[in-house]
Amino acid sequence: MFLRRIVRQARPFSSSRAVDAAMPSTSPATRPLIVAGVPLSADSNVPAAVADKVGRNLHLSRHHPLNIIKTIIEDHFREVERDAARVGQRAEFRFFDDMCPVVTTKACFDDLLTPKDHVSRSVSDTYYVCPGERQLVLRTHTSAHQNELMQAGHRSFLASGDVSRRDEIDSSHYPCFHQMEGVHVFDPEELPGGGGENASFDPTSPEAVLHCEEHLKRTLEGLVRKLFGEDCEMRWGVDDFPFTDPSFELEVFFRGDWLEVLGCGVVHREILQNCGLAHTNGWAFGLGLERLAMVLFQIPDIRLFWSEDPRFLEQFTDGEVKRFRPFSKYPPCYKDVSFWLPAEGGGGDGGPGFHENDLFEQIRAVGGDMVEAVEKIDEFIHPKTQRKSQAYRITWRHMSRTLTDAEVDKMQFEVRDRIGEELGCEVR
Ligand code: DAH
Repeated sequence: MFLRRIVRQARPFSSSRAVDAAMPSTSPATRPLIVAGVPLSADSNVPAAVADKVGRNLHLSRHHPLNIIKTIIEDHFREVERDAARVGQRAEFRFFDDMCPVVTTKACFDDLLTPKDHVSRSVSDTYYVCPGERQLVLRTHTSAHQNELMQAGHRSFLASGDVSRRDEIDSSHYPCFHQMEGVHVFDPEELPGGGGENASFDPTSPEAVLHCEEHLKRTLEGLVRKLFGEDCEMRWGVDDFPFTDPSFELEVFFRGDWLEVLGCGVVHREILQNCGLAHTNGWAFGLGLERLAMVLFQIPDIRLFWSEDPRFLEQFTDGEVKRFRPFSKYPPCYKDVSFWLPAEGGGGDGGPGFHENDLFEQIRAVGGDMVEAVEKIDEFIHPKTQRKSQAYRITWRHMSRTLTDAEVDKMQFEVRDRIGEELGCEVR
């Protein structure tokens, strides 16, 4: 891929509750058949654990770190709006934060000019709610709403929500996370050479594009200063997205590391044309809310955002960005599994055969949030048979208590069974 309502009540913490929250519901009887009001088709690849998360809308949950970050960003754009008004310009940003997470492949990919053969469209990377005729997916990015909102006449907006991707498993990747999309389309009068009777105005002139680019950069630099502090160091890099041209990324130097915070660019001509905006120009950006919140609050594990443990939730207050205090670190348990891949080999391009994301999903189906990380530790091809072997290390760790050996063994055995039965591999 290119670059993903808790009510805050003082609930008594009980470990049995925490076990339930961490355990995936895999039995068919409890499998939800509906995601965001849309029934899953029989051949959907959306697992119950993901269906449970979609629509939880952590970004709307008061006092939640994702909501705190989202609000700071929205406040920044309210200021941009006020600054524009002061110099007689228009930048009225509308905020959308409850758009349906189930979208068509047209909205998620085609309308954003994603190539037909791009891996992000494959069932190994994306959750299909209805793979057949209807081609409905869980949005993989909030960019999926760009076209529909512009076509509905919106010119300046932020759209936030959960996005879902079949992905690796580690402390910063979770199949469901939250993004925010921003778009600003100028009135032609605001662009160099635009407005009045100027018939030769060209919204794609180098001056007009540069104007968009500079406005975009200034706006986002202001946002980053608001989030990371006035003196923070940042740098721009060139990027490549199908839906913007030119495209950029913005990095911030924070606590000793360069951190990529967002992707952005000047909206692709074809998209503006398709939205009836050929006469003007504009910019767009997208960012991940967990990524920002993990850094700013120093939250070490992305699973924590989903925690209903008051020891997590009660640390945060609207409008305050402060350091998260870890309340516990229970011991991890590492287990390795190695296996021979099926004869047809790896489906690394999203094609048939073994694909890592399928493995990750089987492990999550067994262990839910008790899986902290899955890492490939070995790979080789047998010189005689040419069969490929891979080995993975699973880190099992519960966030609220210590796992017993028996529990981990049971899950590890179930993972081994699934690797054989569901993925067609031969466990060694
Ligand atoms: N959709 C991109 C992603 O998920 C992020 C992004 C990049 C959004 C550039 C944009 C943009 O609007 O212009 O990684």
